[in-house]
Amino acid sequence: MQRRFCYLNGEILETDQARISPYDIGLLRGYAVFDLLRTVAGRPFLLAEHLKRLRASAAELGLAVPASDAEIADAIDRLLELNEHAEATVRLVLTGGVSADGMHATPGEETFLILTHDLPVLPAPTYERGARLVTHEHLRECPTAKTTNYLTLLKHHDVMADAGAIDLLYHDGERVTEAATASFFVVRDGRVLAPEADVLPGTVGQLVLEAAGGEFEVSYGSFTVDDVFGADEAFLTSTTRGVVPVVEIDGRAIGDGRVGPVTRAVMERFDAAVASAAAATSAS
Ligand SMILES: Cc1ncc(COP(=O)(O)O)c(C=O)c1O
Repeated sequence: MQRRFCYLNGEILETDQARISPYDIGLLRGYAVFDLLRTVAGRPFLLAEHLKRLRASAAELGLAVPASDAEIADAIDRLLELNEHAEATVRLVLTGGVSADGMHATPGEETFLILTHDLPVLPAPTYERGARLVTHEHLRECPTAKTTNYLTLLKHHDVMADAGAIDLLYHDGERVTEAATASFFVVRDGRVLAPEADVLPGTVGQLVLEAAGGEFEVSYGSFTVDDVFGADEAFLTSTTRGVVPVVEIDGRAIGDGRVGPVTRAVMERFDAAVASAAAATSAS
């Protein structure tokens, strides 16, 4: 494996030199949150939004991030320089730290790790023709925080592979919330419907919907699995995948089973935001 560097508790280290205690309560109990951002033209994209969400996730679990935004930005810059990715994702992981009894964490003793990876790229046909999902009844614990628990997703990789699906679509028996690794939206009569409760606030979803600029209307509320099957269009948003049209769920077509006009407009908005971030980098 290529030599890679990470940040751990204030230091930049080669990843195979990094040591985390066997008593770390993130490992023993899953007491941990993270955030994941991507680069555009080699520079962190939506950094402030991701740091704000990391701090909110941490606060929700009673954890504190042991570094300032400026220190984190510096550490990310160093890692991007050392790790030489074409484009990267940057993973910021915060755990409760060392716990002698495996049950209690000491405030101020958090473990804080930053890793980088190559940015994964979805095949172009997924954007051109749309993706499939599989529904699954599940409500994430602490859904508004980005905890490290993705157990339900990991247990269902085979179900997704059998269905040719790129993600699970969670519902709680009634309301649809989000996908296992992405925000989820439907379009009905030209209007985007966004779930308003029990979801992680998605950075890409917020980016593309906030400045709708009259191009399309957005309303926040709740909708059911049946509503999804009756929608004209559906799409996912996430850091690593951007905006992905969803054309089939549980083997049933959404709308006419093709990528719709509102989804295309949302995809264009995301592409424009990425292009303007890339232009800002090359101008600086
Ligand atoms: C559960 C969940 N919801 C939503 C999202 C989308 O968030 P973002 O757009 O910030 O990547 C993600 C991905 O990070 C996620 O894991």
